[in-house]
Amino acid sequence: MRTIKVGLLGLGTVGSGVLRILTNNQAKITQTAGCQLEPAKALVRNPAKHAAAAEQIQLVTDFGEIANDQSIALVVEAMGGIHPAKEYITALLQAKKSVETANKDLIASCGPELVRLARDNGVALRYEASVAGGIPILNTLAQSFAGDEITQVAGIVNGTTNYILTQMAQQHSSFAAALKQAQQLGFAEADPTNDVTGKDAAFKMVILTKFAFGTDVKIADFNYQGIEDVQAFDVEQAADLGYVIKLVGISRKQNGEIFVEVAPTLVPQTSQLAQVNNEYNAVAIESMAVGRSFFYGPGAGSLPTANSIVSDLIAEASAAHPTSFNKLDCQLPLAGPAEVVDPYYLSLLAGTKTTELALAQLVTEQKLETTNLQAIGDAAGHHLILTTKPMSRLAVDKFIKAAQAVKISVDAAYKILE
Ligand SMILES: NC(=O)c1ccc[n+]([C@@H]2O[C@H](COP(=O)([O-])OP(=O)(O)OC[C@H]3O[C@@H](n4cnc5c(N)ncnc54)[C@H](OP(=O)(O)O)[C@@H]3O)[C@@H](O)[C@H]2O)c1
Repeated sequence: MRTIKVGLLGLGTVGSGVLRILTNNQAKITQTAGCQLEPAKALVRNPAKHAAAAEQIQLVTDFGEIANDQSIALVVEAMGGIHPAKEYITALLQAKKSVETANKDLIASCGPELVRLARDNGVALRYEASVAGGIPILNTLAQSFAGDEITQVAGIVNGTTNYILTQMAQQHSSFAAALKQAQQLGFAEADPTNDVTGKDAAFKMVILTKFAFGTDVKIADFNYQGIEDVQAFDVEQAADLGYVIKLVGISRKQNGEIFVEVAPTLVPQTSQLAQVNNEYNAVAIESMAVGRSFFYGPGAGSLPTANSIVSDLIAEASAAHPTSFNKLDCQLPLAGPAEVVDPYYLSLLAGTKTTELALAQLVTEQKLETTNLQAIGDAAGHHLILTTKPMSRLAVDKFIKAAQAVKISVDAAYKILE
C-alpha cells in the first residue's frame, strides 16, 4: 500500500482537527484514498503548547523542514492570515507539493494567482474549507452543478454574525450584548472586525462567485455591509412584518452580468434561510435544471472544517494526476447599481413635528412605490417603516439623499429576499 506523507502548517483549531481525523479515521481514509495518508510534520510557533500532539506528529518551527522535505507530497495550510501564508504556499507549490487550505482571506485576495502557480507547477490547490466550514459547497458547485446553469447563490456564510442576529431576534439582545455573548462562547474572535463588518462574508462570496459563475471578483468590486448598525428596533419591525434580518451574501447572474453583495437582508420567516440560526451556515442555490437547492451545516469549528480539508486531501491523493479544483472560467462584467432591482425595507426617523411632515411629503414626492407603510411614535421620534416594490440600489440611494436633505435620517435600508 502506497503511503503519502502530509505536512501541516499550523496546529490550532483547524490543524489539530485535521490531525485528529487523519489519526482516528485512518482505516476508512486508506480505503477511500487508495493509499495511506500519514501525518508527518506540523509547523507551529510554540511547540510547548502542543505536547500532546507531539506523540502523533513531528513538531517543527522552521518552515524549511516541510518545504525541503522531498518525502512530503501534500501540505495543509491552517495558519491563517495573508503573510507568511502566501509566501509559504508559493514555495510549496514551486516545490511541486499540492496544498489544501482553509484560508478564505488569502484565496479571496490572491486565489487566481495561486491557482495559476499550482497549474504551472503541475500540482493542485484545493480550498473546500474556505467557505462555510463543514458544508461541502465548493466541490458541490464544481462537480455536481458542472452541467447546470446557476442563476443565484445566496448564503449565510458567517457564523459569528448569524449568532449575533439570532440572539437579537430571539432574545431581544442589543448588537453589543449579543457580540459579547458570542465572544464568551467562542463564536466570535477577540477582534471580530472582519466578521461584523461583512468582510469575511465578502471573501466567501468572492470564492462562491468564481465557483458558481467562473468570474473573478475582488471585494473592492462590490458593496459589502456588516451588521454593526442593525438596531433592535428594526429586528422587531421586521418580525412584525413576517421577516428575519440575516447577513446574506448574494451572487446573481442577470442579463449576462454578475451582481455580488453582502448586506443585512430581510428573509421571510417561513423561508429556509430564516431557519438557519446561531453559528450555522447555509447556501441556497438557484439553477435552471435543479431549481432550488439548499445546503446547511456548521460553518466553522475544528472537526467540521477539518473534514473539508481531509476530503480535499483524499481527492488529491486518489487522483491519478493533480487536478484542478475548479475549471470554470467565464469573466462576466459586473452589474451596476441601477441594473438590479429588489424590494426594500426602509426605516425612517423624523425627530420633530416639521420633519415629520417633510417625511410624509418625501414619500409622495419621490414616488416611492410602497407595499406597506407604518407610522410608529416613540421616545426617539416619529418612525416611518416602509416596504417597497422592487427598486434599484441607485434609486434607494437617491431616496436616502433626498431624505437627508430634509433632515430625516434613514436608519435602515435593507433588501428583501423573497
Ligand atoms: N477556526 C475555524 O473554525 C475555521 C473555520 C474555517 C476556516 N478557518 C480558517 O482556518 C485557518 C486556521 O484557523 P484556526 O482557527 O485553526 O487558527 P488558530 O487556532 O489560531 O491556529 C493557527 C495555527 O497556526 C500556527 N501559526 C500561525 N502563524 C504561524 C507562523 N507564522 N509560523 C508558524 N506557525 C504559525 C499557530 O501556531 P501556535 O499554536 O504555536 O501559536 C497555530 O497552531 C484560518 O485561515 C481560518 O480563517 C478556520
